[in-house]
Amino acid sequence: MAAAGASLTIAAMNTSTTTSTSSALPRIAVLATGGTIAGAAPDATNTSGYQAGVVGVGQLLAAVPSLATVANVQAEQVASVDSKDMALALWTKLAQRVDELLASSGIDGVVITHGTDTLEETAYLLHLTVKSDKPVVVTAAMRPSSALSADGPLNLLNAVTVAGSAHAKGQGVLVAFNNRIHSARDVVKTSTYAVDAFHSPEIGALGWVQDGRVEFQRAVVRPHTTATPFAIASTGAQWPVVEVVTSYAGASRIAVDALVAAGVKGIVVAGTGNGSIHATVQTALAEAAAKGVAIVRSSRVGSGHVMRNGAASDDTLGFVTAGALNPYKARVLLMLALAAGHATPVALQQVFDTY
Ligand code: SIN
Repeated sequence: MAAAGASLTIAAMNTSTTTSTSSALPRIAVLATGGTIAGAAPDATNTSGYQAGVVGVGQLLAAVPSLATVANVQAEQVASVDSKDMALALWTKLAQRVDELLASSGIDGVVITHGTDTLEETAYLLHLTVKSDKPVVVTAAMRPSSALSADGPLNLLNAVTVAGSAHAKGQGVLVAFNNRIHSARDVVKTSTYAVDAFHSPEIGALGWVQDGRVEFQRAVVRPHTTATPFAIASTGAQWPVVEVVTSYAGASRIAVDALVAAGVKGIVVAGTGNGSIHATVQTALAEAAAKGVAIVRSSRVGSGHVMRNGAASDDTLGFVTAGALNPYKARVLLMLALAAGHATPVALQQVFDTY
């Protein structure tokens, strides 16, 4: 657990080339944003009471001398945050910097170091918005850099290795974690403490990376990156307000009514089972939909998908279903879709069925 009150300081971008240059190696930019991978604890056996995002990117790279054998690495400290505090402004800044770097002929791929807590949201955002087919690989760690058997150094080496692989080109944004390579669309954090904390439920990983070898066993099917209409440059700072509510035994309509009164543009509901919703909450959401608030039905279960007109009559209620996206990824897509001008349930459902 990170120390309370971790600040949202966005550090100035420090560029430092940390490996000797070899023209045969891929040129990879590492963008550091903080997280446990950059965390430090008072002693090596402490893996829960540390402060995230306090170790600079130069130190992270210095801990992995083998990086020089797989890539020419340049590094930037984009932010130093505990990813629970990820902010929309930082998403904008990060996405724009990734696009800038990938537009350069001097960069072959980008690696982002991130906290694990919201990694799947940032990775999916970039998967939908980056405008390049060059590899973008997000990685992280479950143990702080100070820990015995810290997992960050190998995850970083593997992420840079994947970003430098020709096989990673055109696969959208990837997550390299614990030797596996996942699609940003599918991957979710599944453990609060275990080193093997990321999985792609139902679908499985795309492939693996080990000892410098990168192998993909399947490809990404849904459109991403250059094949989407979503771009952070056009979204800018105007992120539509979309919030998540949950359905559970004894739920009330207080949260939905408060959100509608606050003027939200969209609500994602983390329903039970196949996205089913407590009748009280569902009535409130139907009233919100009738007022023009976009309502997306997803599931709190953690795997599977939500079937349209299954556990609720979406056609009648004016709801949209999230398919296999969890509530937090559904929120990312809904924000982008609303920002791109998709307003009706029919148009939004088409977006969810496509991306
Ligand atoms: C964070 O998400 O920044 C802290 C937790 C972690 O990286 O594992």
